[in-house]
Amino acid sequence: MNLTRKDILGLQEMSSEEILLILNRAADMKEILSRDIKKVPTLRGKSVVTMFFENSTRTRMSFEMAAKILSADVSGFAASTSSVQKGESLKDTILTLDAMKPDVFVIRHSASGAAQFTASLTGAHVINAGDGAHEHPTQALLDMLTIIEHKGGIEGLTVAIVGDIAHSRVARSNIWGLMKLGATVRIVGPETLLPAEIRQLPVEVHTDLRSGIRGCDVVNVLRIQLERQEAGLFPSLREYAQRFGVNSNVLREAQPDVLVMHPGPMNRGVEIAPDVADGEFSVVTEQVTNGVAVRMALLYLLLGGSPDAASN
Ligand code: NCD
Repeated sequence: MNLTRKDILGLQEMSSEEILLILNRAADMKEILSRDIKKVPTLRGKSVVTMFFENSTRTRMSFEMAAKILSADVSGFAASTSSVQKGESLKDTILTLDAMKPDVFVIRHSASGAAQFTASLTGAHVINAGDGAHEHPTQALLDMLTIIEHKGGIEGLTVAIVGDIAHSRVARSNIWGLMKLGATVRIVGPETLLPAEIRQLPVEVHTDLRSGIRGCDVVNVLRIQLERQEAGLFPSLREYAQRFGVNSNVLREAQPDVLVMHPGPMNRGVEIAPDVADGEFSVVTEQVTNGVAVRMALLYLLLGGSPDAASN
């Protein structure tokens, strides 16, 4: 089976079969990452444009590395050094880059729907690298790959997503992906950081951290996204850390073999205590490695690489 869709905009629109296809392919791609020479000719002659209108370390670098390992050419566009600063619109920016005939656009933007908008303007493939508070599908896929590596699967697990749900595209993509693969999803955070529509989804909602992570197999901790918040959603970072910071004491409520995840960048001492971030249950750096594998898998599947070429 191959991916038949043109674009990867979100997990809400994806079937569980498609998600599993990507995750299985990503598991194969990991073997290439363990080699001495991390280069296969699979996507030679293909070009990828990364368009980042918001800051990024992990997502942008791992897309670039994934494309390069597969021998695609990568051109990076950063809004801060582009003609966007001269007032060029998103539409004109996309049309300009599209005229250079890339095969794939990877886009991150502060507006929900920006990836969909891009997809409507180009015949090239579009991968959403995060659009506003809407979706961040590659992050959820790498999170799920990490869970599967440790737990053997997703079905039947209880996963708590803790923190700033309202502003988090990571939470939304994880909710869709985990639900489709049969996990029980718990949303944990202060009422002011839970989006109104969350109770319409088949998730459990907790406003108390201890009860929220009690018995969980996975705790995925989210960053407090101060740059997206209006003032006054909680009294102070210090109080947030006291009530919702995941520390080793509260983590005892979870399963003894709990996985602690964080998409990064971490606010150490706010949503996650440093000893938890670096502790025995943390898989934060494995998530980053898996991010390269997932992005390799997506580029490979979208651009129709042949199965043999990947093992060259
Ligand atoms: C996330 C993002 O940008 O949505 N980071 C990431 O891609 N690893 C989460 C965040 O910024 O908090």
